[in-house]
Amino acid sequence: MTRRKKKRWEDHQLGHIGRREARTAFYKDSANRISLNGEWKFLYMEAPELSPEGFMNKENGSQWDTIDVPSVWQLRGYDRMHYTDVLYLFPINPPFVPTENPTGIYKKIVSLNKEWMSHDTILKFHGVDSAFDVWVNGTHAGYSKVSRLPSEFDITDLLQEGENDITVRVYKWSDGTYLEDQDMWWLSGIYRDVELINEPKNSIIDCAVNGDLDSSYKNGILKADITTKEKSCEGTWKLERAGKEAASGVFRTEDGKVHLEEMIPEADLWTAETPNLYELTVSTNCHEIKVRVGFRKIEIIDHNFCVNKQVILLNGVNHHDYNPKEGRCVTYEQSKADVLLMKQYNINAVRCSHYPANEHFYDLCDEYGLYVIDEADLECHGFEWVERYDWITDDPSWEQAYVDRSVRMVKRNRNHPSIIMWSMGNESSFGCNFKSAAKAIKELDSTRLLHYEGDYEAEITDVYSTMYTRLKRLKEIAEYEIKGKKPHVMCEYGHAMGNGPGGLKAYQDMYRKYKRLQGGFIWEWYDHGIYTEEGGETYYRYGGNYGDFPTNGNFCIDGLLMPDRTPSPALLEYKQVIAPVEVTRIDGTQREFQLKNYHDFLTLEQFYIKWSVQGEKKFLQEGNIDHLTALPHETEKVIIPFTPFKPEANTDYYLNITVCRKEATQYAEAGHEISKVQFPLDIRYNILEERPQGNALKVWEAENILTIENDGVTVRFHKVFGHLLSVSVKDKEYLSEGPRMTVYRATIDNDMYKKEDWMEKYFIQKSSEQTEYFRYKEAQDKVTVSVGKYFGCYNQSWGFQCDYEYTVYSSGQVKVNLYGKAIQNGKLEPAFLPRIGIVMKGNKELQQAVWYGRGPGENYADSKEAGVMGIYSNSVDEMGTNYIFPQENGHREDVRWFGIGDGDKTLLCKAEMPLGLNLANYTDESLEEAKHPFHIERAEDVIIHLDYAQSGLGSNSCGEEQQEEFKVKLQDFTMAFELQVVSSGEEVKEAKRRYLD
Ligand code: GAL
Ligand code: MG
Repeated sequence: MTRRKKKRWEDHQLGHIGRREARTAFYKDSANRISLNGEWKFLYMEAPELSPEGFMNKENGSQWDTIDVPSVWQLRGYDRMHYTDVLYLFPINPPFVPTENPTGIYKKIVSLNKEWMSHDTILKFHGVDSAFDVWVNGTHAGYSKVSRLPSEFDITDLLQEGENDITVRVYKWSDGTYLEDQDMWWLSGIYRDVELINEPKNSIIDCAVNGDLDSSYKNGILKADITTKEKSCEGTWKLERAGKEAASGVFRTEDGKVHLEEMIPEADLWTAETPNLYELTVSTNCHEIKVRVGFRKIEIIDHNFCVNKQVILLNGVNHHDYNPKEGRCVTYEQSKADVLLMKQYNINAVRCSHYPANEHFYDLCDEYGLYVIDEADLECHGFEWVERYDWITDDPSWEQAYVDRSVRMVKRNRNHPSIIMWSMGNESSFGCNFKSAAKAIKELDSTRLLHYEGDYEAEITDVYSTMYTRLKRLKEIAEYEIKGKKPHVMCEYGHAMGNGPGGLKAYQDMYRKYKRLQGGFIWEWYDHGIYTEEGGETYYRYGGNYGDFPTNGNFCIDGLLMPDRTPSPALLEYKQVIAPVEVTRIDGTQREFQLKNYHDFLTLEQFYIKWSVQGEKKFLQEGNIDHLTALPHETEKVIIPFTPFKPEANTDYYLNITVCRKEATQYAEAGHEISKVQFPLDIRYNILEERPQGNALKVWEAENILTIENDGVTVRFHKVFGHLLSVSVKDKEYLSEGPRMTVYRATIDNDMYKKEDWMEKYFIQKSSEQTEYFRYKEAQDKVTVSVGKYFGCYNQSWGFQCDYEYTVYSSGQVKVNLYGKAIQNGKLEPAFLPRIGIVMKGNKELQQAVWYGRGPGENYADSKEAGVMGIYSNSVDEMGTNYIFPQENGHREDVRWFGIGDGDKTLLCKAEMPLGLNLANYTDESLEEAKHPFHIERAEDVIIHLDYAQSGLGSNSCGEEQQEEFKVKLQDFTMAFELQVVSSGEEVKEAKRRYLD
């Protein structure tokens, strides 16, 4: 005897009741529609069984709540928010789900007139999470599932003229949930559009097209399969390009079907770089639909995947449906903004991770030009946890469930030229059900490539896909026939969680070097923070902030875009790393450059170079070069015609080369920059001047304080602690604490696996200094203070023996030389350190920052492709990046000098060698503690970090660590810089002055 009866939503072998066969989402359709978006009556319950009697009848429901559709009910005050990456929120007992199964009954009255009633009515749900039943006027009309795919029901027979009741009961948990364990918030409800379609009797039900190419790769072959509702139906078709007819004809269906094939000579081909679209109009006497056609061919040639015979490289991102206020409800406008931004940032590919997107998303990709990996709504990651990963994946009783998810995706989306691969899902191990899904996809559409990362052996896929593969392994894949000869793609890499990822350049270099490697997709586009206003604060919540447990916390804050759509520094970096034109200087020359055209289809004719000669702040010469010609994948040489000029003393000169689009495109204005690089010019000359002299310095000691002073400056030291205490001018303290050594930075997400060792074994945040000696020497015009210190962290045998030499000049400058010698008296030591540097404090009134170094944005050792040298200014606050989950941020590399000022006076700091800089209004400790930006406490001073070196970012929250060259090892170091107070506005002038001593 069976212990329990399967409920409808626990029957994995029941695909649906009454759902129509999946079909193309037409681009345009003459059939009338009524949108059912908007207000619905809503009843929330803890289990479907609690439904009130007769809930599906029209007379009930008036007392219920009201909810707007589309929406997810967790963001409308029902149920609760919960985020997990891998874990199911119930015992693994497939196909059964908890009896406590949050359920929403939606009800809407729709009025239909006589004319409407003369046609058929299709009720279309674009997306309901996770399974649902539908009743029309009290009668059961159907049942469906698969959250991220549409479901259509023919409800003609259940309707009447006048008012009609539509009731939908949505189940949060269903057998389908076992296949929907993607890394994201658990959200439920009718979250995509709902509509009624008035379908004429003689209508076109489906039209599957393929814009193929003949062997010349020039002529298009239009292939269309039309399905009509009537068994025999006549009609016409017309193919147009930009309003001009390219071909046309008539058709007659037999048994409701007809196949058309037509040669289109010299077709304008579709690629992501040239998104040329044709429009096919198919008409019957009472119905007209339009679908768009892109002529292009995807195939594998000599073990590489090609578009129109050209090997392409994917510079992609992973895209989830997400909105900070609406969860998984995404509007056309938002999708369009995403696609535009991707195009503007040189991205050419997107993976719909890990489910099909809204219909309109693909239209946008077709139109603007992005290669798409479309992925079936399928992930059962939680099974890995119980060490039976292939439990349902290899269980034939689930076969239909797996196949259904792929087949419906293909049937809906196959007309989109942008889709180049079908992916069968994500993180679901491998087994017989994927083999069946693969077969079903190939039978439906053999014109695209098959992808599934979980086919680890690349047994049935066309591409060998891996995720977060380390560089070493990637190189092996590239150089040896690992898993055969199939082309490789990295479906996920570069984990954009928090600050990072760094090290992208190394990946791009590999993709560009090895033909087998055809690019990858950054994880991921968006931070999935949930907009929250609470207690006067506005912030974004992540896992755990709703008391949700278990959770993966801020693992959902891992995008290139912040929730408010601010591009993160990593997006700027990615843009530059993947820039399709690479500019390198030809060895041994100053002005000769090689351009490599990484476009797969565009020649450089559409681009021009804007160059300028920059002397730190000033631009001396500039010009354009616009006769570029390089063919795709080819190089050309350019000579930048700057003329000799007389350099100013003590000034660095750079040549900036920017590659721009000549014409406006659909996504950017004319002149849009696709790449900006900078090359130092070797024309610096120095003039050293005598240091000016001030009045004689007085030196005195009182209560362990050593004061050195004249009318221009007051400098104080603590003799016992060996610190520079302050630098003041006219009773105002500018420097409120001198250098103290540090090896710590507020943990970034990409250091999460180092954190415990760093902070609980090596105690890098717990350092202290021991004064070894304190001496001073007066000379004419200067006083030299020498301090010896031992720096170390709690219970560590490693540390630094430091010699600080301070020279206070009568002219008001304080020169600091620091020599650090690495010490190890035992054995234990960290493999590397976050940084080696010093921290100082400035008067909190000094909020205007200016620096000469890399900028304008944040940059780090392994993420500075987008940072170029220049003199930049900003407020101290604006120098930081407000990461949703607070962490180290706002760093600038290669800083030669900086100042913080109050508009009147500026504390200027000139470095003798390039140093790293952070300026902030908070301490590292407060940053480390904070769980949200509003937790960060404002410090009493401006916190100034100067780094001898700071480790890179890496991508180790998921993926590669910092590469060796970007790890700061325990090592000897020196730092030298000079502090002085100058008039605000005089920073640049003062910074240039170099002295003889
Ligand atoms: C991958 C997974 C993604 C996401 C990522 C971590 O393993 O496919 O969905 O979870 O890791 O952010
Ligand atoms: Mg997963």
